[in-house]
Amino acid sequence: MRVRQTAILLAQLLWLLTSQTSGSCVCDDPKALWCDEFSVWNEQWTHDVGGGGWGNYESQIYNRENSPVVDGELRIHATKGLDENYYSSRIQTKGKVEFLYVRLEASIKVTNLEGGLWPAFWMLGANFGDVGWPFCGEIDIMELGSAEAIAKGQIHELVLAAMHWNATIDGDHVYEYSGNTTTPAMVQEFHTYGLDWTPEKITMDVDGKELFTRNITGLDQFHKPFFVLLNLAVGGLFTGIAEPTTAGGAMIVDWIRAYDNGSGSRVTVDEQPFNYSNGDCTDSSSGIRLFAMVPIVFSAIVACIFLS
Ligand SMILES: *[C@@H]1O[C@H](CO)[C@@H](O)[C@H](O)[C@H]1NC(C)=O
Ligand SMILES: *[C@@H]1O[C@H](CO)[C@@H](O)[C@H](O)[C@H]1NC(C)=O
Ligand SMILES: *[C@@H]1O[C@H](CO)[C@@H](O)[C@H](O)[C@H]1NC(C)=O
Ligand SMILES: *[C@@H]1O[C@H](CO)[C@@H](O)[C@H](O)[C@H]1NC(C)=O
Ligand SMILES: *[C@@H]1O[C@H](CO)[C@@H](O)[C@H](O)[C@H]1NC(C)=O
Repeated sequence: MRVRQTAILLAQLLWLLTSQTSGSCVCDDPKALWCDEFSVWNEQWTHDVGGGGWGNYESQIYNRENSPVVDGELRIHATKGLDENYYSSRIQTKGKVEFLYVRLEASIKVTNLEGGLWPAFWMLGANFGDVGWPFCGEIDIMELGSAEAIAKGQIHELVLAAMHWNATIDGDHVYEYSGNTTTPAMVQEFHTYGLDWTPEKITMDVDGKELFTRNITGLDQFHKPFFVLLNLAVGGLFTGIAEPTTAGGAMIVDWIRAYDNGSGSRVTVDEQPFNYSNGDCTDSSSGIRLFAMVPIVFSAIVACIFLS
């Protein structure tokens, strides 16, 4: 009887050890705090689904199908359905992976953006659900396809980065601090879009070239955890296009990685501190973990048999 109870307890322990939300164990950079190399679909991402414009009169309906992980890449496709609706995907890590004062980078390639495509790599304050936007703060690390870029004939060159929050001027007025750079041929090539976030400042860069730096001293909105979002929108205010003409396109993400920036950096997975470079990993390693547990469990069972 005791043996059976012990075995059940051990099985429960094993289940507990292997059933946590996954954190990747295959970061191509061993110094990363966290990453997704998109080798398999990672349950740390949640899809935001539906239509209704998403606050910006956007045309697309987000679903789960338009963001497969294929050949080591996340491929968010915007497609035009037979019903004339646009379909695409938006994924985010709220409640699963959250970041504070980190260096966050992603390698992203986009296809032709003409006709209203709007790819974005961005973050929202993790208290979004409690305080709402803009009170939660927003960090836009990469946005392409802006009305400004279209007007300047630089749809494939002009990258925008921005921060939004409730400023002290005009009550709940949203203040935007925007920077931009023109990088040749953003389209059909991977570029690295980076956020460098410390307790003092937020800096954005593309392929190492700085877009802007903003002193965040005293801005409470940027001193608490944020989650990350990746999406490809179609039309809407940012693009200035109410009736998109694109036949579709893609935003392809090769990898996303967070790094320790030497000043209070923190990544949490399921609200627990997570540091890949320090050996933390759960997901792809659960097989390894399970395997490592076999001799331990076996010895424990043998010990129980002898003791009983
Ligand atoms: C902005 O929102 C924060 C909460 O995130 C609040 O503490 C602050 O008072 C707000 N400021 C203004 C001007 O509304
Ligand atoms: C882009 O940069 C130029 C030059 O610094 C500036 O005049 C323009 O306002 C910027 N655009 C945005 C949207 O920030
Ligand atoms: C940011 O602003 C604060 C207060 O104005 C100042 O003390 C600090 O030196 C500034 N930090 C940076 C990095 O410029
Ligand atoms: C943060 O990381 C970036 C990129 O690795 C580096 O250039 C920068 O110096 C770091 N900042 C701090 C404060 O360590
Ligand atoms: C992560 O682990 C590395 C290696 O042990 C260590 O140097 C670094 O301080 C850790 N950072 C965090 C935020 O835990």
